[in-house]
Amino acid sequence: MKIVLEAGEVAEIQALLADLKRQYGSAESEAFLDEADVLAHDLPRRLRREMRRFRLHEPEDAILVVSGYHVDQEKIGRTPAHWKTHYPENDIVEEDMLLVLLGSLLGEPIAWSTQQDGRVVHDILPIKGHEHEQLGSGSEELLTWHVEDAFHPYRGDYLGMLCLRNPDRVPTTFAAVSKVKLTEDQVAVLASPHFTIRPDESHLPKNRGNGNGNGNGSHASAEEEAVRARAYAKIERMWSSPERIPVLFGDPRAPYIRLDPYFMDPVEDPAAQAALDAFTKEIDGALEDQVLEPGDYCFIDNFQAVHGRKPFKARYDGRDRWMKRINVVRDLRKSRESRLTAASRVLY
Ligand SMILES: [Fe+2]
Repeated sequence: MKIVLEAGEVAEIQALLADLKRQYGSAESEAFLDEADVLAHDLPRRLRREMRRFRLHEPEDAILVVSGYHVDQEKIGRTPAHWKTHYPENDIVEEDMLLVLLGSLLGEPIAWSTQQDGRVVHDILPIKGHEHEQLGSGSEELLTWHVEDAFHPYRGDYLGMLCLRNPDRVPTTFAAVSKVKLTEDQVAVLASPHFTIRPDESHLPKNRGNGNGNGNGSHASAEEEAVRARAYAKIERMWSSPERIPVLFGDPRAPYIRLDPYFMDPVEDPAAQAALDAFTKEIDGALEDQVLEPGDYCFIDNFQAVHGRKPFKARYDGRDRWMKRINVVRDLRKSRESRLTAASRVLY
């Protein structure tokens, strides 16, 4: 599904964002995040209606692209060399805020203490030395299709991506589960707990930042340090002894999915392995290229679709592909045991 913003709508959005930038300063501001779902109701009504339709009716194409927002390539500055360090010139507050506002129409944006220092809005850009990694910051290897954070029970219902620049038109890959044909027997096996998914590398201690993991740049309290240490210990446990889970759940006639083949082990039960192989082959066949252009805000239903990225050659000249990412859950409360306060978005 695609929504192309009209000139009047873009002007309305720009005026709102200019206001919010003055008032809150940053998309990571706690005050902004607390108010985001109310503020989002100042977006144009047509846009809100379509976002809501996407959330309520769960259309089987499982993707929504909002295009037409203009990203000024001079204003945003050079693509940073790493997510840890932005250049002083990088002026992307409005673009980040719009990603959070649109996400807030679908649910609550979350952050991981173990990913990008606990920020809500992530930078996806190629990092020197990561060329061959299965990470958003990789480049020369195919980023194998996956459900975002599939290993985690509190993963997002939606993945939001904003394209700031994509000069080589590097495709995102995408497949909706509705395109996949499975027999009743295959669905039954795939909906049984035969499978394991280990945490992807972005959550491992080797990819942690220098920051505090609380996303707001302030000094970490002793409590935050302690819970983050516990969070890493939890990730290590998920790595060393992953629990057995089904890869399909919900309505067997239109199942939700949870899988990330690159991080899955061979299955003991031969029938389950055969069903998984057939399922992944079907998804391979359904995979399409989705080239995002600057200003495209793309939301993927993370329960109904997989995504990945084609390989590309990074330039490291400040003009590289630069995307922003958020994870959105429909119900923040489910993860309460992993967050410090009811309103906190950072999952430990
Ligand atoms: Fe991903």
